[in-house]
Amino acid sequence: MEDTVLVTGCAGFIGSAVAEALLARGERVAGIDNFNAYYEPQLKRDRVARRIDPAYRVVEIDLADRSALSSLMQALRPVRIVHLAAQAGVRYSFENPHAYIDSNVAGFVNLLEAARTAGNVRHVVYASSSSVYGANTKQPFSIDDPVDRPISLYAATKRANELMAQVYAMQFGLRCTGLRYFTVYGPWGRPDMAPLKFARAIFEGRPIEIYGEGDMRRDFTYIDDIVDGTLRALDETSRFDPVPHRVYNLGNHRPEELLHFVEVLEREIGKPAKRVFKPMQAGDVRSTAADIDATIGDLGWKPTTNIDVGLGAMVTWLRAYYGYDGRPSRRAMA
Ligand SMILES: NC(=O)c1ccc[n+]([C@@H]2O[C@H](COP(=O)([O-])OP(=O)(O)OC[C@H]3O[C@@H](n4cnc5c(N)ncnc54)[C@H](O)[C@@H]3O)[C@@H](O)[C@H]2O)c1
Repeated sequence: MEDTVLVTGCAGFIGSAVAEALLARGERVAGIDNFNAYYEPQLKRDRVARRIDPAYRVVEIDLADRSALSSLMQALRPVRIVHLAAQAGVRYSFENPHAYIDSNVAGFVNLLEAARTAGNVRHVVYASSSSVYGANTKQPFSIDDPVDRPISLYAATKRANELMAQVYAMQFGLRCTGLRYFTVYGPWGRPDMAPLKFARAIFEGRPIEIYGEGDMRRDFTYIDDIVDGTLRALDETSRFDPVPHRVYNLGNHRPEELLHFVEVLEREIGKPAKRVFKPMQAGDVRSTAADIDATIGDLGWKPTTNIDVGLGAMVTWLRAYYGYDGRPSRRAMA
C-alpha cells in the first residue's frame, strides 16, 4: 500500500471532507479517528458512512495511544499524511485543558514520531489555526507576523504544533506544511461552532447569543475552499527549502460582520433570529482576517465561495439532516 494517504480526524468536519475529496480523485485513503464525544459522535459516524469505498479504510484509534499509532503506521506505510485530528474549540480549552494536551500536544508528537520512524512518509500536512494570531491587532493576519501571544490554551497547542513540525523538518528532513484555517463552515459542519449553532437555534425558535455585543468580524471560509487548499498544500512538492516546513493561511480574506452573517442565515432559513447580545468571551478575538498572499503565490489558492452560496448549502444540508424540512431526519440513529 505504498500510495495510501493517511487522514487523521477522518470523522471530523474537515477530515471527512478531505477524505472524500481524496477518494473522489482516485486515491487510496486510510482514516483514523477516536470518535470522541466532544460533540455528537453520531454525526461523526454519519460523516464516515457517507463514503463506503473499497479504497477507504477507517480505523478507530486514539492518537494518544502511542504504540497503537506506531503499529498502524508500520502496517499502512503511508507516504502522505493529512493530520486533522485534534481537540478543537477555543472555549472548551478553559474547561478541559488536559484534552488539548493529550490530543494536540502528545498526540501530535506521537504522529510525528510514528511518521519519522515509519521511514517512508514524504509529507505531513497538518491543521493549525487562525487562533495562533491571538492578541495581535494588526490586520490582516500575515504568516510573517509574530505569533507569541496566544489567548487560549487551544491556540497555544496549535502554535506548539508549528514549532514541533519545524524541529522534525529541520532535524529529520520530514516535510511538513501547516495550515492556519480561519472559521470553517458548511454542510456536515461542527455543532459547537457559531454557524451551525446559530442556524439550529433559528430553526428551533431558540435565542442566539451574539458575543462581543455583535461587534465581531470573522473570516468565514467555506468547506469546499478549505478542502481545495488542503489538497493543493498536499500536492505541492516542487519547492525545496533547507528546512522543509511552511505555514499558510487558509482564510476567506473578506471578513464578514457577524450580524450580516446572521441576516443571511435568517433569509436562508426563512425565520427571524432571537438575538441576545453578550460581552466578549474569554479567548475570543474581535476580528479575524487572513492575508493570503503567500497562499496564492505558492499554492495558487483563492477561496471562491461567498457566504450567500455557502450558507445556502449549509442550510439545505441542515434541513435534511435534522429533519427541519418536516421529513424524517437523515441522522442514522435519530
Ligand atoms: N473548523 C474550523 O473552523 C477550524 C479552524 C481552525 C483550525 N481547525 C483545526 O482543523 C482540524 C479539523 O477541525 P474540524 O473542524 O474538522 O474538527 P472536528 O472536531 O470536527 O474534527 C476533529 C476530529 O478529530 C478526532 N479526534 C480528536 N482527538 C483525537 C484523538 N486523540 N485521536 C483520534 N482522533 C481524535 C475527533 O473525534 C474529530 O472527529 C483540527 O485540528 C482543528 O483544530 C479547524
